[in-house]
Amino acid sequence: MKKYLVTGGAGFVGSNIAHTLEVEHKAKVTVLDNFSTGNYKNLLGFTGDIVTGDIQDRGWFGKIGKVDAIFHEAAITDTTVMDQRRMMEVNVDGFRSVLQFALETGVKRVIYASSAAVYGNGATPMREQQAPAPENIYGFSKAIMDNTAREFAAEYKDMTLVGLRYFNVYGPREYYKGNPASMMFHLYNQMKAGKRPRIFKFGEQVRDFVYVKDIVRGNLNALDAKKTCVCNLGSGHPGNFNEVVEALNKAMKLDLAPEYFDNPYSFYQNRTQADLRQAKALLNYRPEWKVAEGVADYVKIMEKTKI
Ligand SMILES: NC(=O)c1ccc[n+]([C@@H]2O[C@H](COP(=O)([O-])OP(=O)(O)OC[C@H]3O[C@@H](n4cnc5c(N)ncnc54)[C@H](O)[C@@H]3O)[C@@H](O)[C@H]2O)c1
Repeated sequence: MKKYLVTGGAGFVGSNIAHTLEVEHKAKVTVLDNFSTGNYKNLLGFTGDIVTGDIQDRGWFGKIGKVDAIFHEAAITDTTVMDQRRMMEVNVDGFRSVLQFALETGVKRVIYASSAAVYGNGATPMREQQAPAPENIYGFSKAIMDNTAREFAAEYKDMTLVGLRYFNVYGPREYYKGNPASMMFHLYNQMKAGKRPRIFKFGEQVRDFVYVKDIVRGNLNALDAKKTCVCNLGSGHPGNFNEVVEALNKAMKLDLAPEYFDNPYSFYQNRTQADLRQAKALLNYRPEWKVAEGVADYVKIMEKTKI
């Protein structure tokens, strides 16, 4: 039986990875989380162990036995956090501590969450080879994590480090993220309450919205990656906010017109789109969910989920 550690496993993406590892891979999974943005309800039905701890310190090192691989999701995930020191300490120093744990316990594979935020307003489709141009400290911390991983793997050649640059993820178990949850989640709630969906003028900004089920698949595929690398994980079919509203209307059997309002942000990405060639070549990543289908699946799940 394979054993895995999922850091940030009480959060949105981490809990989806943990459940899938248990159910599909029949694996023994340990979750490490400090429950800052995660919630135990994401782990209802989980049969593995949970260690409550902070990735930044070593307090948890002795509580987790040897594992076959680590999925590292724990981070400050709210991109509006402006405290630079805190962001770097949690995201970069915390990552270094997870790598140190791997080194000390002989774990040879670490799969970690990077982000499309490293690209900022860079050229699209975004390629792993283009120079990072983060527009906030969150994106900067993820770009530095990629550097840390590259240098670590160069020093410890028997280790494989796979960085996954997630684009805009949506799907089940994001409820407890609050504000940083996806637009799918927020617009669904507005529409469910009978309100018109509010989006920035005129809903034409494009995002590579990727369903969490594809993100989980990308993570699992990374278990077989032959070498250290950084790969984009997107949907392959970017869509705009008007299309999201259209998909929600269809899935919820509604006909609510968007209410457009001025974008208050001086910095805003007008388009994100992942170039997926590297993920296909190195991870055999083949996303299955386009916006319409992903939203329909997600709505079905939200309709039957009691919080
Ligand atoms: N959701 C997205 O759209 C998206 C996009 C790009 C990248 N990512 C990355 O994916 C990963 C997972 O994000 P998510 O959306 O599931 O966010 P999330 O906030 O739901 O999950 C993060 C988890 O990490 C835990 N955590 C935070 N700081 C910790 C610490 N110091 N020690 C231990 N645990 C800690 C939280 O309690 C939470 O359970 C993150 O690394 C995030 O940066 C997410």
